[in-house]
Amino acid sequence: MQKSLNRTLVCLSLCIPLLFGSLLLAGTLDYKSQFLSFIPQLNNVASCRSGSPPLRVYMYDLPPRFNVGLMDPNFPDNALVTAENIPAWRWNDGLRKQHSVEYWMMASLLYEGSDEFGLTREAVRVSDPDSADVFFVPFFSSLSFNVHVRNMAESNTVDEKLQLEMVNILKASAYWKRSGGRDHVIPVHHPNAFRHYRDEINASIFIVADFGRIMNISRLAKDVVAPYVHMVESYISGEPEDPYESRDTLLFFRGRTKRKDEGKIRAQLHKMLNGTKDVIYEEAYASEEGFKASAEQMRSSKFCLHPAGDTPSSCRLFDAIVSHCVPVIVSDRIELPFESEIDYKEFSIFFSVHEALKPGYLVSLLRGFPKEKWVKMWERIKSISHHFEFQYPPKNEDAVNMIWRQVRQKVPAVKLAVHRSRRLKIPDWWR
Ligand SMILES: *[C@@H]1O[C@H](CO)[C@@H](O)[C@H](O)[C@H]1NC(C)=O
Ligand SMILES: *[C@@H]1O[C@H](CO)[C@@H](O)[C@H](O)[C@H]1NC(C)=O
Ligand SMILES: *[C@@H]1O[C@H](CO)[C@@H](O)[C@H](O)[C@H]1NC(C)=O
Repeated sequence: MQKSLNRTLVCLSLCIPLLFGSLLLAGTLDYKSQFLSFIPQLNNVASCRSGSPPLRVYMYDLPPRFNVGLMDPNFPDNALVTAENIPAWRWNDGLRKQHSVEYWMMASLLYEGSDEFGLTREAVRVSDPDSADVFFVPFFSSLSFNVHVRNMAESNTVDEKLQLEMVNILKASAYWKRSGGRDHVIPVHHPNAFRHYRDEINASIFIVADFGRIMNISRLAKDVVAPYVHMVESYISGEPEDPYESRDTLLFFRGRTKRKDEGKIRAQLHKMLNGTKDVIYEEAYASEEGFKASAEQMRSSKFCLHPAGDTPSSCRLFDAIVSHCVPVIVSDRIELPFESEIDYKEFSIFFSVHEALKPGYLVSLLRGFPKEKWVKMWERIKSISHHFEFQYPPKNEDAVNMIWRQVRQKVPAVKLAVHRSRRLKIPDWWR
């Protein structure tokens, strides 16, 4: 009671000055872009105005072999995972980190720290399933693939068995039956996560990296695109006075250049950009040293190239963002996280594959890109890069809170579908 009163007071104290401010400024300024951008905290008033309480999430209690047991084989399989015993993420765990959103979502629900230090949670865990808006399934399906699958052709892997067991647990749950799984939130971030039984859970809210391999069962309307966890270290301090002049590489890319499908563009770009002045385009395999070198080079480049790979998205975009390097995106089917809240055109440049392969076109456009415009984009990147940080304890509007906020936006459509399906007397007739 005291807490909600406090929250109301905080909301009022933020909203009232805004109201006056907007009355005063109405007609003289574009209030949203001008006024709000001066006072970043006030960007939060959207949630005040709607008075929206945090999303209420019921988390299934799964045996640890479905989640933290994949991180620590010694974690006792009969123990309950809590805020006290959850293993910390091992930052030297290499590439596995990039799909670890499943871990950060679970950790954020376990977190019991106090909200009184200014943390605005977008989601809280509830112990009563009947009071939940959504149900979170803490199965680390991406890590399970990474840990248990060496060879894609192998059958009957531990990963496949875990998937089947997971589906059986869900299908036996009264809450799953009630909604057909529509109000269940399931992270499937790695392109091969949950690959054997995805069709059985296709009504649920997926947390995905993109729709590359799940085009036929995934939809923008029900699913949430989440960032990769960035691999290079964030550029926190020590940025030079004049970032445009001090970044002396025009365009940077490092990564695998021989890829399938739309990723074929990487080899074509390599051929085209090879040897171009101020452009670094390097073939490289992922490694710790590689990420260190990439961090250095992204920090000294004006633009960072993000071509499609085997799938439309990659970690590279988020590495560029936390390095404050303006992304140049060449991936026609990419989907981007939090796009209902963030306009990527404000800080990224998009080329179609067709445009990018016109000889000389991309580089000459970047060379002629006005400095003031670049600096504006760089400033914008700095103002949104905290949305791409995963951490524990969670912080306001960090990646995990943004993901929960996206999930919350799905809830009205889920409720509509569930309520309708429960009263229909005929098979669903609507398109
Ligand atoms: C979706 O596509 C995958 C392979 O691309 C296939 O295995 C699966 O059966 C398809 N699912 C549906 C529901 O069509
Ligand atoms: C979801 O999977 C079921 C089979 O489990 C299938 O009948 C249905 O068409 C699938 N829906 C979509 C949207 O792929
Ligand atoms: C790039 O240029 C170097 C040196 O001229 C050459 O050895 C290499 O084969 C070129 N690579 C591509 C992909 O064209």
